[in-house]
This record gives sequence, structure tokens and C-alpha cells, in this order.
Amino acid sequence: MLTQVTVSAPGKLMLMGEHAVVYDFPCLVTAVDSRFYLTAKVLIEPKFILHAPDLGIIDYQKPLSQIGLGDIPDQAKCTELAIKNFIKKYSFSRGIKIETKSSFSQKYGFGSSSASIVCTVKALGELKQLKLSNQELFDLSYQTVLEKQGVGSGFDVAASIWGGTLYFVTAGKKIEPIKIDSIPLCIGYTGVKSNTTQIVKEIAKKKQEFPDNINKIFESISQLVESGKKALMEKDWVSFGKFMNFNQNYLEDLGVNSEKLADMISHSQKAGSLGAKLSGAGGGDCMIALYNTQNKSQIEEAIVQAGGEAVNIKTNVEGVRIETTDNQKEMFVVVDKDDKILEYRSRYDCHHDKTLRHRSSGTAIFNDQGEILMIKRSSTKDLGAGTWDATSAGHVQKNETYEAAAKRELFEELGIKGNLKLHSKYLFDDYNESEIQALYTVIYNGPFNINPEEIETVEFVSKSKLPRKILNKEIIFSPWAERNLQELGYLT
Ligand code: MEV
Repeated sequence: MLTQVTVSAPGKLMLMGEHAVVYDFPCLVTAVDSRFYLTAKVLIEPKFILHAPDLGIIDYQKPLSQIGLGDIPDQAKCTELAIKNFIKKYSFSRGIKIETKSSFSQKYGFGSSSASIVCTVKALGELKQLKLSNQELFDLSYQTVLEKQGVGSGFDVAASIWGGTLYFVTAGKKIEPIKIDSIPLCIGYTGVKSNTTQIVKEIAKKKQEFPDNINKIFESISQLVESGKKALMEKDWVSFGKFMNFNQNYLEDLGVNSEKLADMISHSQKAGSLGAKLSGAGGGDCMIALYNTQNKSQIEEAIVQAGGEAVNIKTNVEGVRIETTDNQKEMFVVVDKDDKILEYRSRYDCHHDKTLRHRSSGTAIFNDQGEILMIKRSSTKDLGAGTWDATSAGHVQKNETYEAAAKRELFEELGIKGNLKLHSKYLFDDYNESEIQALYTVIYNGPFNINPEEIETVEFVSKSKLPRKILNKEIIFSPWAERNLQELGYLT
């Protein structure tokens, strides 16, 4: 188990198909660059602690056995229910502290609830090193959304997970990424918070009273979504704009428009928008308007003149991800079992495909009393975040020897230079990666110049003290630390 991980997930904007998508019809949704960040830390005590100052939750805590039970503050519900559902499905034997931060205000309706649920499930899966697939993340997150708010198609959950722009059918029956660079969208916020759950329930009531009329509207919206999908794929913005306008007319027929939305939409259309509509449940929140290459600023001005706020935000962005300071493009040396170079591949590829066996180096630092320097890896490492290593470790880069890589890492991580002695070279294989590891040793008493992107803290530990620290869970090893310590005869 890892001890700490930070993940983030984007918000969403509905492009076409809202409301119909609650009833087995498709919609088009894009992920937006207003991310929700969540750090999960493993605790020794069996407690759940939530610190979410953006949501007004300061150090809310309860015993892990009480998770999901009793009175739960509304703003803590998403995270707490997601943890409860995760534990039920996958189990989790330790306490958990969650800290969250949002790069967007909840007021816009970009879907911070679903992003926070997705982040919670993703983070716990990473701590347990489960390698959950997008579909597994979706299933547990969507279950949690339904438990929290009773209704919802799950389109927002899918956008947070897959990112990009999606063709989505209710409850994830179909989730198809649409390959596209960006969408020329202006976004206008009405200043009015809409209550999605209430509006979805009102539409359900209307559907019961007037099934034929409402179903006809949904079917027409669904046809527009199909045409819109094709237009999106062909980057035919003129047609896409027309379909947006038609979609808006049907949303008016459903009765979910508001005066403010109508004003902002007609002002943008008059300013030359190719198409404009409300986005989401309606009644408030945001509208979207498609611009051509020249008229973005005119449309934004029109939105402001109609009393709205123009929100500058990127669309079609990356889905849920682990936040790391490691350069994913760094090139590693891929080798066969006899350490013969086969090719060069990126860190990302090597850490996502175990068949890419690559070279790495490690150096164990001892002081002159024979104690080993243990380091706690920073929480932003892509593998083994927050776990303990002995001591410095890194990957061999293109055109570099094992020894040169070990020396470079020692300097980058701890600011030291030294005479390294090769101790052993062995194959290291775990669930994430496969490496040929060269292990060096060096004697050095300090001081150390710690690089915070790599290391949180360091401590010399004697051979006799190590077992107690492991038992007390003061030290949780990185996947490869235990093997290094065994190689060194420091651990049996
Ligand atoms: C709300 O943003 C979109 C709706 O279609 C509800 C949903 O799909 O969950 C109205």
C-alpha cells in the first residue's frame, strides 16, 4: 500500500442532450479545465479525516467504523459516501485523511460533486495499488452519485474520468471519446445557482403527466445529438451551431429556460454566435455560445451586456490523473533480460506497460556508524509517493551508464557527490514495472541538500531500529526498498 497520493479531475460542460440523457438517450459532454484536487493520506489510527476548506469543511473526523453513518454534513457527503462504497467493494484496513482543493468555484455548476467522488475513488484505488480501469472507476463513482442525489445520468462522472469530449448514453451504456482538439466555446454564467436534482425531478413529473409530448422532445433532442456528434467529428462548426440552436428550442419547450439564460443566449446570437444554448439542467448556471475565428470577444461582451459573467475556460481537457512532478516524457532505456538495449521509451510508457523492462540505479547511503539513510519520497512522485526508500533511486537515461545515473540522482535528490561502490545488479519485478536495478553504496554523514520535489524527509536508521519502525508503521516501504534492504543484508 502507498501512504499518500494526490489526484485531480476536471469539471464538465454539457454540449447537447441534457435531460434526454437521463432517459436512455445520448448526450455530448466536454471536460473543462477547472480541476478538483484531492490528496489522500493513509493514517495509522482507524479514522476518517476530511479537510476541505473550499467547501467549508475543516478537519471533520469520525472513526472509520462509522463511515457513511450518522449525520453527514452535506459538503462532506460525496467524499464520505465514496469512501464507504470503496471500502465495501475493495476493503481498506487503515485510516484515511483527505484534503481537497478546487480550482473552480462551485457556483458555476461545472460538477465539483462528481469530480470529488471520482478523485476519492481514484485516490483510494491508487493507495491500494489496484490499477482500477476507467469502467471500474465509473461504476463505483456513479453508484455514489446516485446514492447522494438520487438522480443523474452519470455524464459528469464520465467526463471527469475520461476527460476530452464524449458521446455518452445514460448510466454509461455507451461512452465514446470524440477525437477533437478544442471547441470554440464562449461560456456565460448567469449568476443564478440552479438546483439540478429539483429540475430533473420536475421533468420526471412532466414526463409522467405528458409522456407522449416529452418523449417526442427527447427523441428530437437525441437526433440532434447524433447529428451534432458527426458535425463535431468533422469540425463542422456551422452545422454544430445550428444543432445547438435547435437543441435550445427543445429545452425551452421542456420549460427549463430562464429569462436570464434567454437574454444571454439571444445577445450572443445577435453578436454572431454560430449557435448558443443553456448547458446543464437549466434555470440558471451557465450557457454556451459557439464563436467563429473572429467574434469571440464580441460574444463575450454580449454575454456581459446581458448581465452574465464571461467565464474563460479551456474545454476538451485531460480526465482524472495522478498529480506528479515527474517528467512523463523522460526517455528510459528499455532492455531484454540480458540487459541488452532494445529501444528508448518514455517514463509514462515504462510505468504503464510492465513488458518494457528498463534500467534503473539506486544508491544506499551509510554513515560511518553503519546506519542507513532512509528517505521519504515526496507525495508528487508517480510511483511510490509518500513511501520510504533506501536511499536514492532513479532511472538510467538514454546515453547514460548505470553509475552516471546513480551519481546524477544522488546530486539531484540530496545534493551530494561521492565515490560509489557497485554492490549488486538484479532484476526487480512488481505489479507496476520491471527493472534491471544496479545498486551502489556510499559512505556519507551529511549534510544533505534535499530536493522537495523528490524527498519529503530523511532519517539515518540503525539495523536494530528498523524492524520496530516497520512494525509501528512509521516506515512504509516503496515497492523496491524492501528488496534493496534484503540485497544489502539490512533486512532478512
Ligand atoms: C445536468 O447538468 C444535466 C442533466 O441532464 C442531468 C443529468 O444528466 O444527470 C439535466
